[in-house]
Amino acid sequence: MKFKTQRIDSNQDGIHERLADIVQRNLEHPFQKPIAEHTQTAFNQAKEWLASRSGGMIFDSGCGIGESSRIIAQQNPHSNVIAIDRSEVRLGKHERIFESTLDNLLFVRADILDFWRLAVAENWVLEKHFILYPNPYPKATHVQRRWHASPVFTDLLKLGGELTVRSNWKTYIDEFVFALGIVNIEAETVEYTAEQPMTAFERKYWADGQTTWQTCIKKPPEGGFLN
Ligand SMILES: C[S@@+](CC[C@H](N)C(=O)[O-])C[C@H]1O[C@@H](n2cnc3c(N)ncnc32)[C@H](O)[C@@H]1O
Repeated sequence: MKFKTQRIDSNQDGIHERLADIVQRNLEHPFQKPIAEHTQTAFNQAKEWLASRSGGMIFDSGCGIGESSRIIAQQNPHSNVIAIDRSEVRLGKHERIFESTLDNLLFVRADILDFWRLAVAENWVLEKHFILYPNPYPKATHVQRRWHASPVFTDLLKLGGELTVRSNWKTYIDEFVFALGIVNIEAETVEYTAEQPMTAFERKYWADGQTTWQTCIKKPPEGGFLN
């Protein structure tokens, strides 16, 4: 499979001018869209998997082919990693590339918009949460598809956990930090470098000479960011 590595081309100059209003409105109005059946089924399976296990919970949301999910699972052997992606093709690629499975790693094909809400409804609180290279939706008119401007931003905050978000579009991380500021969470955008890439997209961006950006929030309040 080929990954697109184009640099971000956006008609938006800096943080979206309506972002504060959008985030505020989303915080005040819970998302009402019904849960898709396939995500409910995937969630039930994840719940069952967790029931027989001890240890904390980590999400790799939008895991793609799941390279990062394996690294996270190996680095956190006492935690349970749930790797979520809606793409059967990407999840299927994981199975073809990596022969072995890891005991503390579960892949679920699900829509994050629903999976996060189901997790909040079950009062799940995460130990860590990775959102690595989410689709940037760089067109200004698509701002509400970005996680921090989406109606499930509230759920993301309620899930808590040490949160790591990375993008090759600095504006995405600047906006994420801005949205966190609205709920009084201090964060900053920093350039992200490391010896080894953690995800397929990260590898491609670096090979293409692109800079990658990160915001990381350590030590969320007990019970999530909003409680
Ligand atoms: C740009 S890719 C990054 C994948 C991986 N994190 C990486 O860095 O290689 C974004 C991923 O998010 C997934 N995704 C986007 N929206 C989603 C949603 N609503 N529910 C589940 N997965 C979603 C896509 O299928 C895709 O695999």
